Amino acid sequence: MEKKKLEHLAIVMDGNGRWAKSKGLPRVMGHHAGVKAVERVVRAAKELGIPYISLYAFSTENWNRPKGEVMGLMGLFRYYLRSKLAELCREEVRMRFAGDLAALPPDIREILREAEEKTKDYSGTQFITCINYGGRRELLDAINRLLASPPEGGVTEETLRRELYLPDVPDPDLIIRTSGELRLSNFWLWQSAYSEYYFTNKYWPDFYKEDLEEAIKDYCERERRYGKA
Ligand code: FPP
Repeated sequence: MEKKKLEHLAIVMDGNGRWAKSKGLPRVMGHHAGVKAVERVVRAAKELGIPYISLYAFSTENWNRPKGEVMGLMGLFRYYLRSKLAELCREEVRMRFAGDLAALPPDIREILREAEEKTKDYSGTQFITCINYGGRRELLDAINRLLASPPEGGVTEETLRRELYLPDVPDPDLIIRTSGELRLSNFWLWQSAYSEYYFTNKYWPDFYKEDLEEAIKDYCERERRYGKA
């Protein structure tokens, strides 16, 4: 049996809107509460010694949400990444981003660049925010780059992987999705080929370190065979 490793934990943070609705609050308040859960869970991942945590914060499809909500989310990215940068630096968390970043507002791009730059030498937990991320977009971009300069000997898994957003990041071992939805929603399409999935009915703002520990315990009890007998 494969030794159980948990190098990369990925999370689809779902249910912010329903959490807010259940409390009679506007949807944007659900995203605010979601940011608090982000802080808790990134800290927990660090305490648990998980080398990579990636969070699906904004998909290529999320631009289709009402304008006010998209603006609210962009505002949260600005606020969170600016105000938390110093704290994350203190905690030696390396921040990275995956997605079509060129399409983001220029000031946000600059904040992301600065966060990456300031934390690039930290060797502890890497916190990857997937922002304007879509697995199909990532693959199409990779394919187009390969078509523009085809590798000698043809395209292999290795040459394709090199064109992905973060080629050095290992594939997710465990993907958690909150709020009872049972979908991948265009997240880490290439990278999730052998990921384990864990679903919980809790809304993202109600997700705590104990919930993460429960998910990891469940994962540790599984057998990963990667297609072998
Ligand atoms: C899904 O809930 C959540 C999102 C689309 C946004 C997630 C963003 C955050 C938690 C905020 C910021 C993150 C970082 C890393 C700074 P939903 O709105 O689809 O919920 P619903 O399905 O209940 O409507």
